[in-house]
Amino acid sequence: MEVIIRPSSAEAAMLAARLIAAALRVKPHLVLGLATGRTMEQVYDLLANMELDFAACRTFNLDEYIGVPPDDEHSYRSYMNQRLLGRVNIRLTSTHVPDGMAPDLGAEAARYERLIGEAGGIDLQLLGIGEDGHIGFNEPLSSLMSRTREKALSPATRRQNAAMFGGDADRVPKRALTMGVGTILDARRVVLLATGPAKAAVLARAVEGPITAMISASALQLHPRCTVIADEDAASAMAQREYYDWAFQNEPEWEGYRP
Ligand code: F6R
Repeated sequence: MEVIIRPSSAEAAMLAARLIAAALRVKPHLVLGLATGRTMEQVYDLLANMELDFAACRTFNLDEYIGVPPDDEHSYRSYMNQRLLGRVNIRLTSTHVPDGMAPDLGAEAARYERLIGEAGGIDLQLLGIGEDGHIGFNEPLSSLMSRTREKALSPATRRQNAAMFGGDADRVPKRALTMGVGTILDARRVVLLATGPAKAAVLARAVEGPITAMISASALQLHPRCTVIADEDAASAMAQREYYDWAFQNEPEWEGYRP
């Protein structure tokens, strides 16, 4: 794992966007794993303005609320179309979000895993982190080997996402379809972006604490090519800061960091 700390959330988002752009330039038929949430808004805005060629790219989103139709403004499909997919030259048929309206959610989860496999697996998976340590919607106690499946959202996650539902946590759906921790760990490269003070404590536990199903992001310690990008606020509780800064300045792992 590599940890990169940037002075501001804008610079952290810019680095994440640059890494995706670099990967897309090297491999135009990139299979890109995408996340939603407030942290990603800046990243998608930057990507949409970079004049990148997404024509051959395929995307797989991490998750979708159950019972929210794709054309509902609260769906993650709407979020993606509005913030990125509808703003670049990608073919919408090459973009995938789990179907939270599927009558058989188990079959939909299996179909999603099959689609990822048929695409050759995910080259680069973008992740945020929940205040309870989730990646995707892998809430505490998610098996570190889990695959795409239905998951009940934690009260902490429903409070965290209330802002998108008029500030009312009770309006946030109770369940979601999400890639599993195992599905995420299968991606060839993972970039986790965390910004803001609300992520500081959990990010330190995920990066520096023991690997535990209580913090699904801690499973990323097992991934051979994982980059964590944090702004100063999100990085403020990490103990090994001096080493992370030194390593990034002197021994950066990825050529994509260069502007
Ligand atoms: C959303 C997702 C979640 C978010 C996380 C952070 O698709 O997978 O894991 O990345 O909840 O959300 P924000 O960025 O809103 O703090």
